[in-house]
Order: sequence, then structure tokens, then C-alpha cells
Amino acid sequence: MKHQINFLAIASLPLLATSHPHSPLTKPRILTSRDFDAGDPYANWPSYDQLPLDPSYPTKAAWGVWGADDVQGALNHITNAMILAAGDEIKLGRAINLNMDLNAFITPINPNRKPLNHLFQPGSGYTDDVVVLNTKSARSMMGFDILSASFSPNETKTNCSSRWYNNLIENFDQVVGPTPTEVLGIQQAAKKGIAGRGVLLDFAGWAESVNISYSAFTGFGINSTHLDAVATWQGLPTNWSKPGDILLIRTGWTKQYLNLTAYDQEILPWDPELGSMGMNASDDSLAWLWEKKLCACWSG
Ligand SMILES: *[C@@H]1O[C@H](CO)[C@@H](O)[C@H](O)[C@H]1NC(C)=O
Ligand SMILES: *[C@@H]1O[C@H](CO)[C@@H](O)[C@H](O)[C@H]1NC(C)=O
Ligand SMILES: *[C@@H]1O[C@H](CO)[C@@H](O)[C@H](O)[C@H]1NC(C)=O
Ligand SMILES: *[C@@H]1O[C@H](CO)[C@@H](O)[C@H](O)[C@H]1NC(C)=O
Ligand SMILES: *[C@@H]1O[C@H](CO)[C@@H](O)[C@H](O)[C@H]1NC(C)=O
Ligand SMILES: *[C@@H]1O[C@H](CO)[C@@H](O)[C@H](O)[C@H]1NC(C)=O
Ligand SMILES: *[C@@H]1O[C@H](CO)[C@@H](O)[C@H](O)[C@H]1NC(C)=O
Repeated sequence: MKHQINFLAIASLPLLATSHPHSPLTKPRILTSRDFDAGDPYANWPSYDQLPLDPSYPTKAAWGVWGADDVQGALNHITNAMILAAGDEIKLGRAINLNMDLNAFITPINPNRKPLNHLFQPGSGYTDDVVVLNTKSARSMMGFDILSASFSPNETKTNCSSRWYNNLIENFDQVVGPTPTEVLGIQQAAKKGIAGRGVLLDFAGWAESVNISYSAFTGFGINSTHLDAVATWQGLPTNWSKPGDILLIRTGWTKQYLNLTAYDQEILPWDPELGSMGMNASDDSLAWLWEKKLCACWSG
């Protein structure tokens, strides 16, 4: 199966944002930002090597690239013109479902999370569905501003020594406290809406074609060299990407998970070797995503 699949992706996002805590907070909030002109969004566009815009920002953070008060990060790559151009590429008009069943996971992959509870509540002449789920029991969406935070070995999600995109959140208590801030979070993405051209890179199909065998459950890292090879294998030109593209990577995780016995699915979350497969968290990945101006990336 060797083919190019481009399609229009329209995603609604019942997903939870994950904030990326970081090293000690420094003030003032922001020092340097690019003059951002929505009419000419790539004027003064910084190359990956030019990030961050100010040495006081976290490593490779995109702070200030879309202005000091921006909350959308890479979603700014989505423009009306880009959505119109994506519509022009529709050939078959076929909709492809990217959802998994709500009860696809017997045990949440993080077993500290409660499994889905799906109730049927009968009324008079009708029945309501009631779904109680931890939104992180399946897919979650990390911050779109893919370069907004960098990670150090001391990264901690339980302390105040954190820095958020554009320094818009100053205090960890604003994130975990009783009155959490709404300045940053997935609700900002929902407000904007995510629509555009989706490009599928079939890593699993490519790996099979070149006899690379791997377990999807051991933290296998897909790097930029792999993704370039996948694109070539699919017959895509080297300039396949357009600003605002939504990248979808077929890792083979779902295929391997669904191939497990029910028993193995149930015990998988307790496997001490369990790791998450996906794009490698490394400099080459960040540079690749940045230069392609992708707005989001999902893998599964
Ligand atoms: C991590 O924390 C330890 C102990 O506080 C410190 O010695 C070390 O320098 C820190 N490492 C980094 C990369 O910040
Ligand atoms: C966070 O750090 C402060 C001091 O920097 C410390 O007192 C506190 O115990 C830490 N909290 C957690 C949850 O680690
Ligand atoms: C992959 O393995 C199959 C069967 O062992 C073999 O026929 C094929 O040539 C191999 N392909 C590559 C690219 O190595
Ligand atoms: C990606 O990983 C492969 C090994 O699977 C390695 O040969 C290649 O150099 C890596 N590319 C980068 C940019 O690290
Ligand atoms: C890639 O380059 C070709 C030839 O120059 C051009 O026709 C095509 O529009 C380019 N594709 C993209 C996605 O920019
Ligand atoms: C599916 O499971 C069988 C039995 O464990 C195994 O031999 C096979 O390699 C698996 N296939 C995939 C695609 O993981
Ligand atoms: C993934 O990145 C780490 C550094 O963060 C590197 O050590 C490792 O070799 C990379 N793996 C691949 C497959 O490129």
C-alpha cells in the first residue's frame, strides 16, 4: 500500500491541554517579540537557529514569535487563505473517522486514571447516555506552541519552578490551585477552531516495507530522518508541506494494541518497560516541525 493521502482535517477537541512546567520564573514577563503582521505572517520569520528571540527565554521557546500576548502559538499558522486552499485539494470528498471507540481502552494507559463509566439513564420514552471519563485516559493534546517550553532533567509538574508560553502564567498555583487560570489551555484552541489540510505519514507502513520491526510500547522514537524517508516512500515531493498543515503520523501503536489479547491489554499499563511511542523529543524533531510551519501533530 503506497499512496499519498492528503485530506481536509476538521477536528473538534474534547481534549485536555497539558502545560509544560519549567525552570525558575524570571521577570519581566516578556522582553522581545517579533512585529507580527497578520497580513504578512512570515515577514521577519525566525529560523529555528534564531530561536529563542531572547536569550532569557527557555531553550528554543517560540515566545514572542506571534507577539507578546499571543495564546495560540503554532495555531497562528492557520489562516483563512490556508483553509480555502485546503478545500481546493479535496478530490474524493470522503470523510475519514479518526476517533477511537470511547471504550477502546480496557484499562487507561495511565492506570491511576479511572476507566470510562458509560451509563444509560432512562427517562420517560427516551434514554440518556451519560459518559464520565478522564479526558486524559486516551488521547491528550500537548501545548500547540510546540517550542514554548523546553525541558530540563529537573522538570517537575508539582512545583512552582515553571515557565509557560510567553510567560503568561507566573505562578504554578494559577494552574493547579482552586481557581485555575484560563489564559492558556486547550480552550484557546477550541475558540479558534482547527481546520486545514491534514497530511498522513504512514510510519508503520514504511517500517514494514523496510523490515523495521519495533514494539510500539517501548518508547520507540520516530525522528526527522524516518519521517523524510516515509514521505519519500509515499511518493511525496520534498516540498510536501505547507504552512498550517496538520500532521498525522500512523505509528502502528493502535494496530499493535488492538492485536493484543484482552488480558494483555488489561495488564499493559502496569508493564514497567512501558513507554510512549511518538515523535522523538529531540532537537532534530523540533527543527523539522518548526521549519515546516506545521500547526499540530497527532500520532497514533
Ligand atoms: C537539577 O537540580 C539539581 C539539584 O537541585 C542541580 O544540582 C542541577 O544542577 C539541576 N540540573 C539542571 C539541568 O538544572
Ligand atoms: C516546591 O518547592 C518549594 C520550595 O522551592 C518546597 O517548599 C515545596 O515543598 C515544593 N513542593 C513540591 C510539591 O515539591
Ligand atoms: C524484507 O523481508 C522480506 C522477507 O524476509 C524480504 O523478502 C525483503 O526483501 C525484505 N525487504 C527489505 C527492504 O529488506
Ligand atoms: C534517526 O534514527 C535512525 C536510527 O533509527 C538514525 O540512523 C538516524 O541518524 C536518526 N536521525 C536523526 C536526525 O537523529
Ligand atoms: C513543490 O514544488 C513544485 C514544483 O516547483 C510546485 O509545483 C508545488 O506547488 C510545490 N508544492 C508545495 C506544497 O509547495
Ligand atoms: C499480533 O499478535 C501475534 C501474536 O502475538 C504476533 O505474532 C504478531 O506479530 C502481532 N502482529 C502485530 C501487527 O503486532
Ligand atoms: C531521540 O533523541 C535522543 C535525544 O533526545 C537521542 O539520544 C536518541 O538517539 C534519539 N532517537 C532517535 C531514534 O533519533
